[in-house]
Amino acid sequence: MQQPGISDRSFQYGDGIFTTIRVHRGQLLLWPYHWQRLCASMLRLGMAAVDEVWLKQQAEQQISAPEQVVKIIISRGQGGRGYSPAGFGQALCYCSASALPDYQALQQQGLSLDLARLQLGIQPLLAGIKHTSRLETVLLKAEVDRSTADDLVACDSTGLVTELSAANLFFYQQGRWHTPRLHQAGVAGVTRQWLLDYLQLTPGCYSLAQLQQATAMLACNALMGLVPVRQFAGLQLDVAPVLPLQQAYVNFINQQNNNVLSADYFGRDLVPVARPASTDVK
Ligand SMILES: Cc1ncc(COP(=O)(O)O)c(C=O)c1O
Repeated sequence: MQQPGISDRSFQYGDGIFTTIRVHRGQLLLWPYHWQRLCASMLRLGMAAVDEVWLKQQAEQQISAPEQVVKIIISRGQGGRGYSPAGFGQALCYCSASALPDYQALQQQGLSLDLARLQLGIQPLLAGIKHTSRLETVLLKAEVDRSTADDLVACDSTGLVTELSAANLFFYQQGRWHTPRLHQAGVAGVTRQWLLDYLQLTPGCYSLAQLQQATAMLACNALMGLVPVRQFAGLQLDVAPVLPLQQAYVNFINQQNNNVLSADYFGRDLVPVARPASTDVK
């Protein structure tokens, strides 16, 4: 696997995408969800196609322990004329491995959340994509570091509740779960998608006032799975509604075949964009 050069566009301009995969029992967990998000994102950005079998093999070559993390970065390429994305052929893929952080305490005790001052900018063309232009997320994380909460709920600049600094948010109200639609901002997480499929849920648009009516919340991402929120902005939350979902997720990932995928994965979040003539996405 190649190393990125200094003229790599993901380094120069954030002109790339990435995904962070949990390895569980020596296998890439939720691979079809990661692959589908990569594909939808490459299509959206007009990047050249990557072969799934080859990419999965490259990622699997990074596995050296039953539980760890594999990260894939796909860059549009090297060099080019300034910002212009014209004329690039094969995308460049980079895989790396790291240890899986221990989320056990967090999963048992739950997260404390507060509200972020930072508002996420609106860009429907990038919404949902896990792209490498993440300065906004870096600023949000800096705000988390300064706060006394474990993480912060970020709204977009129109006031719609969006996500946390590196996780998606679900909330429970009057016997039903809800999660924000990510058509203006945010990253459409693979774990979020698993939960949407499991609950047969359609995302919606929610104001902060609606979120404040929640009686339970959970945060999710590919590495930590589903984590209950124990308090939000001083409001105590009930962790009980989260427990059956946590259990269902654990059962799912421990099944032999966890490669179930809904047909319209990401179709509800990623705005359809005409396929650029220069790309060849399978
Ligand atoms: C900003 C942001 N939102 C959501 C997520 C959750 O995505 P996933 O479930 O694919 O890990 C992440 C993951 O790192 C993230 O960085």
